[in-house]
Amino acid sequence: MGLIENLRSTVRFQELTLDPVARRLDRVANIEDLRRIAKRRLPGGVFDYIDGGAEDERALARSVEAFNEFDFRPRILRDVSQVDTSVDLFGRSLPVPLVLSPTGFTRIADSQGELAVAQAAARAGLPYSLSTLGTRSIEEVAAVSDGRLWFQVYVWKDRGLVREMVERAADSGYEAICITVDLATLGKRERDVRRGFTLPPKIGPGTIIDGLVHPGWTADFVRADPILFANVSSRADGSDGSADGTEAVALAQFTEEQLDPSLSWDDVEWFRSIWDGPILIKGVQDVDDARIASDLSIDAIALSNHGGRQLDSSPAPFDLIPRVREAIGDDMALLCDGGIRRGADVVKAVAMGATAAMTGRAYLYGLGAGGERGVDKALDILAAEVRRAMILIGATTTDELNPNCLQPAP
Ligand code: GLV
Repeated sequence: MGLIENLRSTVRFQELTLDPVARRLDRVANIEDLRRIAKRRLPGGVFDYIDGGAEDERALARSVEAFNEFDFRPRILRDVSQVDTSVDLFGRSLPVPLVLSPTGFTRIADSQGELAVAQAAARAGLPYSLSTLGTRSIEEVAAVSDGRLWFQVYVWKDRGLVREMVERAADSGYEAICITVDLATLGKRERDVRRGFTLPPKIGPGTIIDGLVHPGWTADFVRADPILFANVSSRADGSDGSADGTEAVALAQFTEEQLDPSLSWDDVEWFRSIWDGPILIKGVQDVDDARIASDLSIDAIALSNHGGRQLDSSPAPFDLIPRVREAIGDDMALLCDGGIRRGADVVKAVAMGATAAMTGRAYLYGLGAGGERGVDKALDILAAEVRRAMILIGATTTDELNPNCLQPAP
């Protein structure tokens, strides 16, 4: 046999994939791989806005690390031929205990932005929370998604505007509202300060070179329609354009001008009077506050330090779960937002007492790495990892997940 014949009979050549997105995503094994690709593709300022946290980024790092302080207690020989990863949330089944957190300005990662994320979430059967600071509107997102949609509320000083947005969410069939309560002032995100980062990103002399070395992102950004604060643009009162995103603004200045630092527990009751569906309070960071929240007529608490982007040295949401669960009892839904990089982290959160976990960066890395298909990839990875972890610890349903499934890592 000739050499070529011999080679042909023993070597299998891979098919060449011409689709560049598929090529990029094919070999992605985990969320960190998506992060690395996003870092390569996105301009530095955009990547750092997504990836960064406040000040020394201790809260950000701790929120990720907290999961590593526990190992599983894997149990063997338990017939794991049938595994059900679903949980119940607001009376409906979720295929995996995971919710997509609200993230502002999602179109800076990819021009399809919120529309891409909402559609990927719907395909995965997971709720997607649209941010008040979204760059696609409540209605635009509802028009492309037949999945579960939540609307995240930042409380504007103009309560008329807040009421209008909540009513628009109701009219568009959103399932729940999620009131974020940890942004009385903006955390000091020092990566953004150093880069002079604005929203939408300004293409100035400093960013031109950055743009040239990230041609894929730049072509997408320049071709797409302008990035606006889509939910509030119709009501923008600032003639200078700073209230709707027409003009680039520093986020700190924007939140100082628009958001209401006088927000208090009484306002939560006001929301109950204008919204019939489930209400979540996101940004609970202490057991005593969880107790107060659980006495109000709300439906869920999301433990969150805003992805480590607000108060540095705030506790890791995962660390709070057992004490908060004990304080609020078994009936109220409890979400753990932040630090999720693995399906195993989701399983640990549920074992500790959370109903489900929430993640923002994991899907944003996917979006930055490969648009809508990158978000599919991120959600597929996490769902498969949840399933694999449950099989390997011997849990066939999420009801079997409890603190006994975990032990402190030595
Ligand atoms: C917005 O919510 C942000 O964290 O940047």
